[in-house]
Amino acid sequence: MASISLDKLNKHYGSLHHAVKDVDLEIADKEFVALVGPSGCGKSTTLRMIAGLEDISGGEIRIDGKVVNHLPPRDRDVAMVFQNYALYQHMNVYDNLAFGLRNKKVPESEIKAAIDRAAGILGLHELMKRKPRQLSGGQQQRVALGRCIVRNPLVFLFDEPLSNLDAKLRAQMRIEIKRLHAQVPTTSVFVTHDQVEAMTLGDRIVVMRDGRVQQVGTPLSVYSKPVNRFVAGFIGAPAMNFIEVTVGPALAVTADGLRLMVTEPAAQALGAYRGRKVILGVRPEHLVLGEGAEGRSFDCVVEVVEQLGSEILLEARLGGTRITIARVAAETAVAAGDRVRVSAPPGRLHFFDAETETAIVG
Ligand SMILES: Nc1ncnc2c1ncn2[C@@H]1O[C@H](COP(=O)(O)OP(=O)(O)O)[C@@H](O)[C@H]1O
Ligand SMILES: [Mg+2]
Repeated sequence: MASISLDKLNKHYGSLHHAVKDVDLEIADKEFVALVGPSGCGKSTTLRMIAGLEDISGGEIRIDGKVVNHLPPRDRDVAMVFQNYALYQHMNVYDNLAFGLRNKKVPESEIKAAIDRAAGILGLHELMKRKPRQLSGGQQQRVALGRCIVRNPLVFLFDEPLSNLDAKLRAQMRIEIKRLHAQVPTTSVFVTHDQVEAMTLGDRIVVMRDGRVQQVGTPLSVYSKPVNRFVAGFIGAPAMNFIEVTVGPALAVTADGLRLMVTEPAAQALGAYRGRKVILGVRPEHLVLGEGAEGRSFDCVVEVVEQLGSEILLEARLGGTRITIARVAAETAVAAGDRVRVSAPPGRLHFFDAETETAIVG
């Protein structure tokens, strides 16, 4: 049983660099939370402060209700998995798994039971006698996970543990981590710059930028209701299209070659912006080829056709803006240079303030 609370957490590196800014976060017992954001946004620093590997400049961290600000890592009962597995090269898998428990003078019979259980969960039984160099990257990462499981900690902390693996293995390990969490539901914080990893693993995701939390929510809520342009562009692949438009009279937004009707509740919220520019956002997968209802369609010119087999991705131009259209049926006859009609369903339009980049919501 362990919740984690971060309360106005701050980290300064020297006097110049403010790496983590007023981070507030409540993580429930057994919850799996993914911290996601671009490189340098403060994810690892936040995680390392939870682990006790980095001093806190301000704020409070509580694990299981207890303030741990000044507790050394070994007294926090957290287990951390890094990108580099940090296995002992001269020890076989069994001894690597046993190492931490032997240090704590746990009886060998208990160690064996803990290792048996972890090996069963992670499929390590056949590998026990091997040294790390005789293991693939994925197997080494499983051993590193096993080392955490045998300790039976209050909290798992992961810092980009899959980044060294190739794409296929990464997808496999993602599923293994998910399965592991289902079997051993330990409170977990998983740091990644990969939004797909965050979306697929997290019960909730925390999007960070420049040391600050931008949005916290379930993957679906962050995807469907991004609070600002940054989150909208960061979550979802291919990235959301952004088009600068002018809010006209009569519930419409316009741009060069574009006039789209806006429905409630967005229309009401946009009333305050009449005559001004706002940013229209629409996801590539929500654009549909062909004529839609009145006031829902526009023309654009195809520049690049990417045939993926399961679907086609189109890169196209609308006036001065490049847009991506996804999920075009693979057998569609379309070529670079074609002018195509595209429609945007009303419920799928997002609007952002052109200056603050905050979502304008009805
Ligand atoms: N030991 C350090 N000394 C000075 N600056 C650091 C140190 N560690 C990290 N930083 C800076 O703090 C910011 C956040 O780093 P980090 O938490 O590692 O980001 P992330 O894990 O999101 O990529 C970065 O700008 C980084 O350069
Ligand atoms: Mg990092």
